[in-house]
Amino acid sequence: MNFEERSAFYREETERELISYMNIPHCAQDRLIDAMRYSLTGGGKRIRAVITLEFARMCGGKPEAAMPAACAIEMMHAFSLIHDDLPCMDDDDMRRGKPSCHIAFDEATALLAGDALEIYPFKLIAESVERGVKAENALKMCRILSENAGHMGMTGGQIIDCIMPDDCSSQDDILRMYELKTSRLLQTAAVFGCLAADADEMHIKKADEYAKKVGLAFQIIDDILDICGDAETLGKPVGSDAQMGKKTYVRAVGIENARRYAEKLTDEAMSLLDGFDDNEFIRQFTIGLLNRNK
Ligand code: IPE
Ligand code: IPE
Ligand code: MG
Ligand code: MG
Ligand code: MG
Repeated sequence: MNFEERSAFYREETERELISYMNIPHCAQDRLIDAMRYSLTGGGKRIRAVITLEFARMCGGKPEAAMPAACAIEMMHAFSLIHDDLPCMDDDDMRRGKPSCHIAFDEATALLAGDALEIYPFKLIAESVERGVKAENALKMCRILSENAGHMGMTGGQIIDCIMPDDCSSQDDILRMYELKTSRLLQTAAVFGCLAADADEMHIKKADEYAKKVGLAFQIIDDILDICGDAETLGKPVGSDAQMGKKTYVRAVGIENARRYAEKLTDEAMSLLDGFDDNEFIRQFTIGLLNRNK
């Protein structure tokens, strides 16, 4: 498979699997399930799923074993986006090229759809044992996901993003916030791939370090796109950070310096891939994240 074929394969398989997880018989809570399905399926670049599936492959694992973990991380991410867009947070009306969940439904439904998508991933991981993931690794995944999504991870980063003071936060403060709000879920995705393939500690550590750096670069590029990007291509509003008075790395150091730092982080991430066999795909993918326009 060449790069495009493998990318398409991962994305299509993930989409199919996510749809199947939302194939739930009619019930009294249909409205909640409709909102979950609306925000989870039919959009998104699926970069977290690709990272999980590719790290599993590089570590000698099978895609079917890693797929529940790939979907679990995409669900957790979808939850984070639903809540991120709420009026009490970033107050954004568009996401993935369509009205945000709270616009398409209403705030209470969006809040609850986020809640439900935050908890569903743990069921997927538990069930991944039936697809060949070692029980002890599934248990590790549950712990890692809880830590990396919760108060010491993504959610922790989101509160810092909300309350970060305008005047006295340093560049390091901003990067620490990015590490929590963005890197932690990417780190989870990479480590999930390794665990699904029962990789050794050395590979898990390298995957984790790689994704931490990629996450920082990813958020910096996201911030640049919020200034220079095209709303239609991005599928979400531009100028949102400025409008909300967000403290971003780009605002602190300027676009040129921020871009240079994202390049440096990407270089450092690439060097961590040396320990993985057959790493051409992930190298090309990593460069693609740096040069993306959406
Ligand atoms: C957006 O993530 C949120 C950030 C961490 C910057 P993505 O850019 O991966 O969003 P989707 O999944 O493709 O919509
Ligand atoms: C997203 O940061 C971080 C999350 C954990 C969702 P942003 O608020 O910049 O993401 P977008 O630009 O809305 O996708
Ligand atoms: Mg935000
Ligand atoms: Mg936002
Ligand atoms: Mg943004």
